[in-house]
Amino acid sequence: MPHLPENLLRCPLCFGPLELSGTASSLGCALGHRFDAAKQGYFNLLTGKGTPFQPDTSPMVQARSDFLGAGHYGQLQRAVADAVQRHIAHPRIILDAGAGTGYYLAGLERRYPASSLVALDISKFALRRAAGLIDAGICLVWDVWRTLPVQDGQVDVIVNIFAPRNPEEFFRVLKPGGVLLVVTPLPGHLEEIAGEARLLEVRPDKAAGVTTALAGSFHETESVIVDYSLTLSHTDIYNVALMGPAGHHLVASELMARLTELPERTLASARFTVQVFRRSLDL
Ligand SMILES: C[S@@+](CC[C@H](N)C(=O)[O-])C[C@H]1O[C@@H](n2cnc3c(N)ncnc32)[C@H](O)[C@@H]1O
Ligand SMILES: [Zn+2]
Repeated sequence: MPHLPENLLRCPLCFGPLELSGTASSLGCALGHRFDAAKQGYFNLLTGKGTPFQPDTSPMVQARSDFLGAGHYGQLQRAVADAVQRHIAHPRIILDAGAGTGYYLAGLERRYPASSLVALDISKFALRRAAGLIDAGICLVWDVWRTLPVQDGQVDVIVNIFAPRNPEEFFRVLKPGGVLLVVTPLPGHLEEIAGEARLLEVRPDKAAGVTTALAGSFHETESVIVDYSLTLSHTDIYNVALMGPAGHHLVASELMARLTELPERTLASARFTVQVFRRSLDL
C-alpha cells in the first residue's frame, strides 16, 4: 500500500501540495489535478508529452530484477546502507532518483524501517517491481531532468545509483545539510565480460566528474571504493548485458551465441565508487 507523509509531494502541473486519497488509489491537489494509481501501485505523473528519454524496457527490467535477485550486488546494497548510516541516524524521507526495481531502497528500508521512501524512475516496468519490493513508499514515474514533484527542503537522503543526476533539483528538494549518495562504476568494472556482453566502457574520471558537477551546492564528505569478485553463469552475464544501457540495442540471440564461447562460470570484478555529499546549509 503506498504511503506518503504530508507536505512532501507537489503537483507537477500547479505546484500545489499533492496528497494521497484515503484509499491510496489516487494522488490529487486542491485544483483538482488527479493521478490514479496503476494496479501494481505506482503513479504515473508524466502526463502530456511524457519524456524524451528512453525508459528501461520490460526485458531490461526483468534482467535487472533477476541479476539483483541472485545477490550479485548484495555487497553494494549493504555498502550503500552503511554509507548512509555513517552520515545520518534517523532519516525521515529517503528518495531514490532513477530507482529502477527499488533494490537499493529495499536495503535502506530494512536498515531504516521508520523512514518514508520515494522512488522516481521513467520506466513504469521498473516501478511495477519497486512498488512490490518496498513497503512504506511511493513510486512515481517521473523524469529526473524535469522539476521534481517534491516540495522544497523536505528530503533527508537522496540516493542516485547508475542513474542520471539533476544537481539543481537535488539541492532544492534536500533539507539543508541533507545527504546525497551517488554510485558510479569504476574502470575495470566487469571488464572480464565487457566484450561478450557489449558493455559500455567506463570513463576513468567518472567519479571526479560527479564531484565537479555538484561543486558549489554540495561538498563531498566520503568516497569509498567497493571492489569484489563475482562468479557469473551464462544467465548472469546475459542479464547483466541486458540490464544496462546497451540493453536497448542488444539482439538476444546474438548475445546468447557469444556467451556459449565462455566457460560455465566466469570470474568478474565488481568495482564501484560510493560517494557521499552534504547539501550546503543555504536555502
Ligand atoms: C542503470 S539503471 C539503474 C537502476 C537502479 N538505480 C539500480 O541500480 O538498480 C538506470 C535507471 O534510470 C532510469 N532513468 C533513465 N533516465 C531517467 C530519467 N531521465 N529520469 C528518471 N529515471 C531515468 C532508467 O529507467 C533505469 O531504471
Ligand atoms: Zn495541481
